[in-house]
Amino acid sequence: MGLALKNILLYAGVASAVPWAGSPNDQKPLDPAAGQKGPLKTGSSTQKPNIIFILTDDQDIEMNSLDYMPFVQKHLLDKGTLFRNHFVTTALCCPSRVSLWTGRHSHNTNVTDVNPPYGGYPKFVAQGFNENFLPVWLQEAGYNTYYTGKLFNAHTTKNYNNPHVKGFTTSDFLLDPWTYNYLNPAYQRNHEPPIIYHGQHTIDILIDKSNALLDDAIASEKPFFLALAPVAPHSNVEGDISDISDIEKVTFSEPIPLKRHEHLFPDAKVPRTPHFNPDKPSGVNWIAERPQLNKTWVDHNDYYYRQRLRALQGVDELVDGIFKRLEENGQLDNTYIFYTADNGFHVSQHRLNPGKECGFEDDIRVPFIVRGPGIAEGAVSNAVTTHIDVAPTLFEIAGIPLREDFDGLAIPLERVKQEKRRHEHVNVEYWGFAVEEGSYGGTLFWNNTYKALRIIGENYNLYYSVWCNNEHQLYDLTSDPFQLRNIYPGYADHDSSLTILGAPLIRVIDRLDSLLLVLKSCKGTVCVKPWQKLHPEGDVDVLPDALQEQYDTFYKHQESVRFDRCEAGYIIDAEGPQDALSYTRNGIHWSHWV
Ligand SMILES: *[C@@H]1O[C@H](CO)[C@@H](O)[C@H](O)[C@H]1NC(C)=O
Ligand SMILES: *[C@@H]1O[C@H](CO)[C@@H](O)[C@H](O)[C@H]1NC(C)=O
Ligand SMILES: *[C@@H]1O[C@H](CO)[C@@H](O)[C@H](O)[C@H]1NC(C)=O
Repeated sequence: MGLALKNILLYAGVASAVPWAGSPNDQKPLDPAAGQKGPLKTGSSTQKPNIIFILTDDQDIEMNSLDYMPFVQKHLLDKGTLFRNHFVTTALCCPSRVSLWTGRHSHNTNVTDVNPPYGGYPKFVAQGFNENFLPVWLQEAGYNTYYTGKLFNAHTTKNYNNPHVKGFTTSDFLLDPWTYNYLNPAYQRNHEPPIIYHGQHTIDILIDKSNALLDDAIASEKPFFLALAPVAPHSNVEGDISDISDIEKVTFSEPIPLKRHEHLFPDAKVPRTPHFNPDKPSGVNWIAERPQLNKTWVDHNDYYYRQRLRALQGVDELVDGIFKRLEENGQLDNTYIFYTADNGFHVSQHRLNPGKECGFEDDIRVPFIVRGPGIAEGAVSNAVTTHIDVAPTLFEIAGIPLREDFDGLAIPLERVKQEKRRHEHVNVEYWGFAVEEGSYGGTLFWNNTYKALRIIGENYNLYYSVWCNNEHQLYDLTSDPFQLRNIYPGYADHDSSLTILGAPLIRVIDRLDSLLLVLKSCKGTVCVKPWQKLHPEGDVDVLPDALQEQYDTFYKHQESVRFDRCEAGYIIDAEGPQDALSYTRNGIHWSHWV
C-alpha cells in the first residue's frame, strides 16, 4: 500500500524536506506527452463538458489516506493531476461547503459554523444563498444538476422542506440527526419525505443512489453536474448534532466501515511524524495546554485512524463504479472529475485527539485531484489553490462568465496555464469552538477563533496567525515543516537573529500582518490580489517585493490585526481594525481604503 502515490511524488522530483513547498507554479507530469491535449473543451463533442464532484468528509492528505485507496490512485492520481498545495479556508464542514458552492470566503457568506445562529442550513437559507449558489447558476447555464449525500449541517428531517433546497434536477440528501449515523442514515429525495434506512450502511445506499443519478444524467443528454458527498471518513455520530444546547450529549465515535472492509490494514498506525504527540506542547491558546497523550489515547487514536482508512474503502469502490459507468457510456472524454474533502483532519498530531477546526497543515491541506480533458495525467501541481477557487473553476469549465462576488480565481487545470504566476496566499479563518472526537473525546474548546495566513512561494513557506485572545503564531515551514516551533516574538522558539528571505523577522511579520489585515475582510478581486490594496501603484505582487526596506516606515504605520474579544461568530466590532493604509510613491500620502 502507498507505493503508487509515493512513486508519483518522487518521480515528480518533489523530495525536499519540505515536500510540497516547491515553486508554486510548476507542474511536473510523469508522462512528458501528457497535458498536451488542447483546450478545456473536448474536440469530439460540441456539448459542454460534464462535471462530477466527489466530496468526502474530513479526509486528510497529510496522514496519507490516499495511499490506501487503490481506485482513487488508478482512476484519478494516475490519470489526472494532484494539486498538492490545495487548502480549505475554514476547516469545518458546513462553512467550507458553503464556500465551495458559493465561491466566497466565510467572512463573506457569514455561514461560519455548523449550527444556527452562525451556521448550518438555516443560516445558508437566511443569507439568501438558496436562490444564489452553484447548482442554481449551473442550471441557468443549461446544466442538469444532481446531488446525493451530505449537503450541509443542521439540514434536518424537520427543516428539509422549509424551504426545500433549490437548484437540483434530482437530489437525495442525507439529513440530521442521522447524517453521520453510518448504520441508520436518513436520505431524502427531491420533495419526498425522508426515509431512515435502519441497519443499512450509508455508503452502500449512496453507491446505489449515485449510480442511478449518473444513469439519469447520461440519459438526459444535457451536460450535467453530479455531486457525490459520502460521510466517510467522518466520525460516526449518535445524538442530535444540530441541537447546540445538547451538544455535550452527542457521541463522536470512530467511523464504521462496511463489513467487507472491517479487517483491513490491521497494522496501520497514525504516521509517527515529528509532530505526532510531541514531547513539548504545540501551538497557543487551548492547544498549548493539551497534555501529552498517554498509551490508552495513542492506541485508541491508532484504532480510530484504521477505522477511517477502512471506512474510505467504500468511497474507493464508489469511485471505481463511477468510472466504469462513465467509460461504458462513452462519457469519460467529456467529463471532468474532481475529488476532494471539505476539510482535513488530525489524529494525535500536536497532542490533539481526533478532530479538525485548527489552522495546522493537517486540517487545512486536503486532497484535490482533477481528471478530465486536457489535464495532465499522473501529474502533481504545486500551484497554490483553495476551495474558494472551485466555483470559478467550474464556471470556466461550463463557459459561464465569472461573478463579481467570487473571492477566488479559477484553478489552472492545464499545464500551460500554470506557467503564469499565481497568487501565493491562502486566507484562513475560524470562529467558535473546536471539539475532540473519538471515544475519549467530547470536550469542547471555546475561543477557537483566529485569522491566519498561509503563504507559499519560491524560498518561503510560512504560516502566520492571530487568535482572538491576541496570541500569535509564526511557523517557518521551510525549516519547521511540522509546525513545532512558534518563532513569533515572545514565544520560546523566538530568536531575534532569525531571518526569512534575508530579512529580519520583525520586517517579515509587519508585512504578513498587513496582508492578513487586508485578507480578513477582503471581497472579490481584493481577495485575489491583496498586495494591490497595500501598494496600488502595482510594484508589489509577492512577499519578497514587499520586504524592501523602503517600505519599513509604511508598514510600521499600519494598524495590527487584533481582536477586542472572543466571539463564536463573525461579529465585526470584536475584530479590531478593518481598514489598511495604502502606500503611494512619495511615501507620505498613505490613505485609508474602505
Ligand atoms: C490515560 O488518560 C485517560 C484520561 O486522563 C485516563 O482515563 C486513562 O486511565 C489513562 N491511561 C493510562 C494508561 O494512564
Ligand atoms: C473566551 O474569551 C473570553 C474573552 O474574550 C473570556 O471572557 C472567556 O472566559 C473565554 N472562555 C474560555 C472558555 O476560555
Ligand atoms: C453574521 O451573522 C451573525 C448571526 O446572525 C450576526 O450577529 C452578525 O452580525 C453577522 N455578521 C456580519 C458581518 O454580517
